[in-house]
Amino acid sequence: MDPIYRPRRLRVNQAIRSLVRETSLSVNDFIYPLFVVEGKGIKREIPSLPNQYHYSVDMLGQEIKEIAALGIKAVLLFGLPHRKDSCGSEAYHEEGIVQRAIREIKRIHREIFVITDVCMCQYTDHGHCGIIEKEYVANDVSVKYIAQIALSHALAGADMVAPSDMMDGRIGAIRKILDKNGFTEVSVMSYSAKYASAFYGPFRAAADSAPQFGDRKTYQMDPANSDEALREVELDLDEGADVVMVKPALSYLDVVRKVKDAFRVPVAVYNVSGEYAMLKAAAAKGLLDERAAALEMLTSMKRAGADLIITYYAKDAAKWLKEEYDEFV
Ligand code: PBG
Repeated sequence: MDPIYRPRRLRVNQAIRSLVRETSLSVNDFIYPLFVVEGKGIKREIPSLPNQYHYSVDMLGQEIKEIAALGIKAVLLFGLPHRKDSCGSEAYHEEGIVQRAIREIKRIHREIFVITDVCMCQYTDHGHCGIIEKEYVANDVSVKYIAQIALSHALAGADMVAPSDMMDGRIGAIRKILDKNGFTEVSVMSYSAKYASAFYGPFRAAADSAPQFGDRKTYQMDPANSDEALREVELDLDEGADVVMVKPALSYLDVVRKVKDAFRVPVAVYNVSGEYAMLKAAAAKGLLDERAAALEMLTSMKRAGADLIITYYAKDAAKWLKEEYDEFV
């Protein structure tokens, strides 16, 4: 036994491990999802998402200040409207829940980067992400509504819009309506490769957005495919997407890597509700170390090629990363 190469030499202590580390996670990578509800004085824990809350607009102040103090610079907004109908009209209403939340956040903290989820499923009485015609989510008419929703968010002051509906051609339609109305600097993060995943379960309970009939498989992607993901990303980039997203994260890190290698553009991943809830449940049972496991998961997303990470762990991870930094000192 006389090896020349001993890889363990670069693992002997924390200092050398830090020096050779290829991937470092930072609070700059995180986007924190926020759920806004109608009403007043509400900060209510979401049963399906432990330690995540529903906030009424008037209660956002404290939360935004906390997020900013942790160094988190971006939020992704979801709204729960007081009324649903067949075409999701609350989604593009000037006084809708998201539109009011955007204005309130910008009033509290102008520098917080406000991203909005652009979709119809929380707003439609049937729970699908578009307009139903003959029991099918009709593409082109849905895109017209989705573009209108994106414009209403820009008018309210959103910095970036993130369509999550998976209709064909919606990125081009959104880019066009934004530009036509003078919002050339509002960027588009496309949920480009969004899979029809079982890991959205806790979110749908939190956002009251489960489809009332059928499923989302005619618009969200088959988990078995990755060539299709590259095609979706290519189309969205051609139509003007600034950032492309792969969602969920953990079961799709191979797709993240392929997208990054193929296109060399900013790639986002969504560490979705089911991934968060899964870890929370295991940690609650004492089955694993939540801090270590969560940081490992987030690091793996970055290593796979993600530049932006949307995660319910953003606040915890920001604290943990700071602790790690302080621990060595
Ligand atoms: C809306 C939307 C969903 C998620 C983000 N935007 C749910 C869905 O498509 O069913 C899921 C987020 C999560 O699970 O954390 N279309």
